[in-house]
Amino acid sequence: MPLPNIAVLFDENQIAARNRALAAEIAALAPERLLAVAVLKGSFIFAADLLRAMHASNLSPEVEFMHLSSYREATISSGQVEILKDVESDVRDRDVLLIDDILESGRTLAFAKDLLMARGARRVLVCVLLEKPGKRAVHIDADFVGFPCPDLFVVGYGMDVAHACRQLPFIGHIKGLE
Ligand code: IMP
Ligand code: MG
Repeated sequence: MPLPNIAVLFDENQIAARNRALAAEIAALAPERLLAVAVLKGSFIFAADLLRAMHASNLSPEVEFMHLSSYREATISSGQVEILKDVESDVRDRDVLLIDDILESGRTLAFAKDLLMARGARRVLVCVLLEKPGKRAVHIDADFVGFPCPDLFVVGYGMDVAHACRQLPFIGHIKGLE
């Protein structure tokens, strides 16, 4: 049940169908020695579902996590990216799939992509659940996008407001919070 002050933007069925389509798009690029890297924390539910859809598309990625933070407790980006947890695997000559929740300013993903390319990755592909258009501060494009996202503060399906709302099975917008 949606909470009274949360408007559903994308429901469970829409998300599941999109995940299947994204997995097929990823498989079509025939990734080699694929390492999927979920960018914590906001991507954890998306990554879990996308990885299982990737399995259904006959992909067998290794899976790692990277915890990056640019937001702290605020809802406005500070512009700084900090590595709170790094990947443990050697990425040299491998295809890497970065999985994140939202591409907004692009700072977080540009930082992660540059870092993994500098470590010798063969290809770094970027897959985001949501893309907020017109907000980019640095040049980076996602290779795979779940949904275009209206310029609203969104929660659910792993995404939070001050650590709350991650458990919601849908993507919603808190009414009155831009
Ligand atoms: P950026 O692309 O570096 O600006 O950072 C995007 C990150 O900011 C995302 O991975 C989220 O963690 C966070 N973020 C941006 N917009 C929202 C939102 O509407 N709800 C929750 N988190 C958000
Ligand atoms: Mg994030």
